[in-house]
Amino acid sequence: MKQTNVMPAEGKLGIMVVGCGAVATTFMTGVLMARKGLTKPVGSMTQYDKIRVGRRDAKQYLHYKDIVPLADLKDIVFGTWDVYPQNAYQAAVYAEVLKAKDIEPVREELMAIRPMKAAFDRNYAKRLDGDNVKDCQTRWDMVLELQKDIRNFKQQNGCARIVVIWAASTEIYVPYDEQYHKTLGQLEMAMKSDDRAHIAPSMCYAYAALAEGCPFVMGAPNTTVDIPAMWELAEKTHMPIAGKDFKTGQTLVKSGFAPIIKTRNLGLAGWFSTNILGNRDGLVLDEPANFHTKEVSKLSTLETICKADDQPDLYGDIYHKVRINYYPPRNDNKEGWDNIDIFGWMGYPMQIKINFLCRDSILAAPLLLDLALLSDLAARAGRYGIQRFLSFFLKSPMHDFTRGEEAVNNLFEQYTMLKNAIREMGGYEADEEID
Ligand SMILES: NC(=O)c1ccc[n+]([C@@H]2O[C@H](COP(=O)([O-])OP(=O)(O)OC[C@H]3O[C@@H](n4cnc5c(N)ncnc54)[C@H](O)[C@@H]3O)[C@@H](O)[C@H]2O)c1
Repeated sequence: MKQTNVMPAEGKLGIMVVGCGAVATTFMTGVLMARKGLTKPVGSMTQYDKIRVGRRDAKQYLHYKDIVPLADLKDIVFGTWDVYPQNAYQAAVYAEVLKAKDIEPVREELMAIRPMKAAFDRNYAKRLDGDNVKDCQTRWDMVLELQKDIRNFKQQNGCARIVVIWAASTEIYVPYDEQYHKTLGQLEMAMKSDDRAHIAPSMCYAYAALAEGCPFVMGAPNTTVDIPAMWELAEKTHMPIAGKDFKTGQTLVKSGFAPIIKTRNLGLAGWFSTNILGNRDGLVLDEPANFHTKEVSKLSTLETICKADDQPDLYGDIYHKVRINYYPPRNDNKEGWDNIDIFGWMGYPMQIKINFLCRDSILAAPLLLDLALLSDLAARAGRYGIQRFLSFFLKSPMHDFTRGEEAVNNLFEQYTMLKNAIREMGGYEADEEID
């Protein structure tokens, strides 16, 4: 590895996951199994991908860990919070994502991962009724309690560094409000005055993480860190933030497929995405206010790839619709259908159908690993604020909308951003251009 300015990945890395549900336990179980050599972390960029560094004769294809100092799987320690008190073993069994043969070998380790009491407000996820919940008078109390949790966890587990990642339920939609979310001062005031309408519990986790010097990643579509007040906090504490919404099934397909239509200058009349899923995530999203948060996130993908302003003839009138249907028999095995109405030469219509029979948490788990390891890397590299290079992993990537910045949703452009960041942190030239 070249000499870099990135601090080494020495000591234990605590990954504190908010929510101990299907995604979180699939992730934890996979990491624990992989480090015993009992499974392979398939789908993880940090474990498998090789990228080019250097040019022409000096060109080499290297794994990320040979370019930048990454935390090793064996140095990871897991912590979690949840509204339900079941330990990670019980929660993994309940989730029914993994077979017993893939859980039992790490049963002891999973049983030791016991959720701390959640900072929770039932108005933000009505379908949940667990009672492993903090008794807090105000949102500010939630922040202080969570800070204490992080500090205690770090000390009790001898961690050198902590990353906090949200894999808890999707909260109801909290739109950006200039009066409460613009500056850090406003945000703190709203937390202290217990403004429950504008401060979601997830904002308390994010605030606590950043204040404790930990990167924060938002894996649900919640607007939590997608507000200028949180960017200010991240800059003040020199911590990286990323979000939002893990890019797994249908949106992964969309952000990879839409570039085909755009690259060939075909027209797009409509894109209808629908799916059925029956896990607890599906149950929460069955509530219209929670679904709305997801809908906003999922709808944002197309317009920055097939741009109406650039090509009004081709993309001036796209009908984009996204549905999610709760259907318990399928549990975590989501089935997604995409119907794409395109048009070609002289406007003649054609259709494309995509039927993705996926497994939600199996697709999400490697993203948690990559987002946690790369956020930790970014912090050690002295990068802070919005980490746009992590857009690759996210459905609705963060960007500074107050300055008119656009999200990059095209999967291949996102990959270029990711590779360039790894090159740069590894002391190489970030030499790939986005056209
Ligand atoms: N699996 C995917 O493909 C995918 C993709 C993108 C986003 N996500 C998001 O990831 C999240 C997790 O998905 P899942 O399938 O594991 O759901 P899940 O319902 O199995 O787990 C979520 C857990 O979060 C807990 N929780 C809710 N509010 C909390 C709070 N305030 N503090 C602590 N815990 C809390 C719930 O009790 C539950 O156990 C969801 O928001 C989902 O939308 C999943």
